Amino acid sequence: MPWGKQLLTWCLFPSLIIVVAVVFPWTQSTQGVWYDWGGANRGAGRRVGVANGVFPAGCKWRDVQHDGAEKEFWAVEGYEYWDEVRQRWTSKRPPGCIVQGFAGSEGWATKRLGSPRTEVDCTVTHCIYKNLWYNNGRFFLLVDGPDAVEGWQMTRNQDLNVLHVDNATAFVDNLEWRVVTNDTLLFDFVYFLHPTAIGHWGEMMFPLFSILKREPQFQWPPAQFVLLHLKKVHLLEWARAVIATTLGVLPSRALPPLMMQQEVDSVWDQILSPLEGFGQREWVCFERALVVRDMFLGGERTFLSQEDARAFRSMIYAQYGLPPPTKRSVPRLITFQRKRANRRVVNEEQLISLLKEYGQVQVVEFNASTPFEEQLRTMAATGVFISVHTSNLANAPFLQPGSAVIEILQRNWIWDNLDRSFQIQTAKMGDIHHYAWRARFRNQTIYINKRDGERFGDWEPLQCSTEDCVEAHTNVDVIVNLDEFRALLDNRLPLVFGGASLDEAALLWPPIE
Ligand SMILES: *[C@@H]1O[C@H](CO)[C@@H](O)[C@H](O)[C@H]1NC(C)=O
Ligand SMILES: *[C@@H]1O[C@H](CO)[C@@H](O)[C@H](O)[C@H]1NC(C)=O
Ligand SMILES: *[C@@H]1O[C@H](CO)[C@@H](O)[C@H](O)[C@H]1NC(C)=O
Ligand SMILES: *[C@@H]1O[C@H](CO)[C@@H](O)[C@H](O)[C@H]1NC(C)=O
Repeated sequence: MPWGKQLLTWCLFPSLIIVVAVVFPWTQSTQGVWYDWGGANRGAGRRVGVANGVFPAGCKWRDVQHDGAEKEFWAVEGYEYWDEVRQRWTSKRPPGCIVQGFAGSEGWATKRLGSPRTEVDCTVTHCIYKNLWYNNGRFFLLVDGPDAVEGWQMTRNQDLNVLHVDNATAFVDNLEWRVVTNDTLLFDFVYFLHPTAIGHWGEMMFPLFSILKREPQFQWPPAQFVLLHLKKVHLLEWARAVIATTLGVLPSRALPPLMMQQEVDSVWDQILSPLEGFGQREWVCFERALVVRDMFLGGERTFLSQEDARAFRSMIYAQYGLPPPTKRSVPRLITFQRKRANRRVVNEEQLISLLKEYGQVQVVEFNASTPFEEQLRTMAATGVFISVHTSNLANAPFLQPGSAVIEILQRNWIWDNLDRSFQIQTAKMGDIHHYAWRARFRNQTIYINKRDGERFGDWEPLQCSTEDCVEAHTNVDVIVNLDEFRALLDNRLPLVFGGASLDEAALLWPPIE
């Protein structure tokens, strides 16, 4: 693949590239809820995380914390690994947890690897690199020949640097290098400041699923998976299940080997930390690597087609041996998802009494140690799923056809369509109703930090487009107007329970005023 074609593709791009300056997670304070330790494993001043679900082959871990030390969510004390032979947990990291590639002491040419120069083939959704070079936290294009090439932004947080040399083979022969063979999926978790917010996995993995499913030139599942910027402790069972399904891992099979960066304490050092298993001086050549265009570089936020969306939903149920979602008469089971740290419904008791007039009500409060299978079973049984806008709504696309979501939106939550982030996921399924009630007044909003209220309490929705204002509105509780909520239920639930189509039961998204 000549450089010309690649450059042309990239030249067409600048107009499509949308660079957003700040990350606006809608789950800023969810860490407190999701970063949770299995109660059963407490004891002797030490807490051990749960280890349910799928892991890479030969590499199952659980995190260890010590009681007492008040640490920020980012810090982790250490890990234990499952020793398959001795059937017990140990602190020794097994070889299955480290990908090392093969070393090149004899020189590139004698290994008959072709040229070590980088070649790139890009489409609107992704690039496939041949010989993508990496050293000590940075990625490089190795270019030889007379023509100059400019580097570019590979992902939101990762630049591509250019190494321009006369003779790529001669250059590489003077380096210490290793080759990671076959197809590698390279993935930048762009919201690295909010690592446990599961909502972000969907918006990055769903488009990737569509891309991998359609790309005949790339192994599915790939031979290995590079996950940049996160620590193992952040790979909750939920995320691992979504990764497995995205990568096309069949039920009861392991994830491909996982490559991550060496863990360090500071989040800012972590993003530049070298890959585990490689020395600082060592150069790593990825024989073939696929990199998806993330949302910050003009990528998509959900599946590329309804067919993909539904296939994914069935596949994730299959991961847990559960039957695929199908059209059935919608059960009168209303699941209310409670949130504990913020975005609580202040008048929850009255809201639940109201809901009981329409069906059986169950209240759930999922956290990081809730088995994903339990979450899926809950979704499968639910007719109407009611929740404030929160990470756990990432489960909404896994409802069965005909079910409905009613989302409670906090006030001033509209910047960059943040209020629609889960609705676009369910919409792609094409068989889930999704409604919302929106808090519009100051008197429906309790600012948990009084100062947020003083600063932003009087701001109008359209003014609330600064990072400070948006962040402040993640940290509020909501008072639901029960008359309006009742009107919404009276108006739509008979249609939902009656099996009306999406079109028949559609309702406009609530306006901001
Ligand atoms: C590049 O370097 C290699 C290894 O030193 C050598 O075998 C090859 O002939 C060189 N190629 C050119 C075009 O000079
Ligand atoms: C990876 O590549 C090597 C040769 O480079 C090959 O022998 C091996 O079968 C490949 N493995 C997979 C999983 O494709
Ligand atoms: C997480 O959920 C489990 C089961 O639902 C519960 O027993 C546990 O107390 C929860 N943890 C926290 C911190 O709420
Ligand atoms: C809340 O504020 C709105 C707008 O200012 C007002 O119309 C409404 O009556 C208030 N509601 C209550 C319960 O005070």
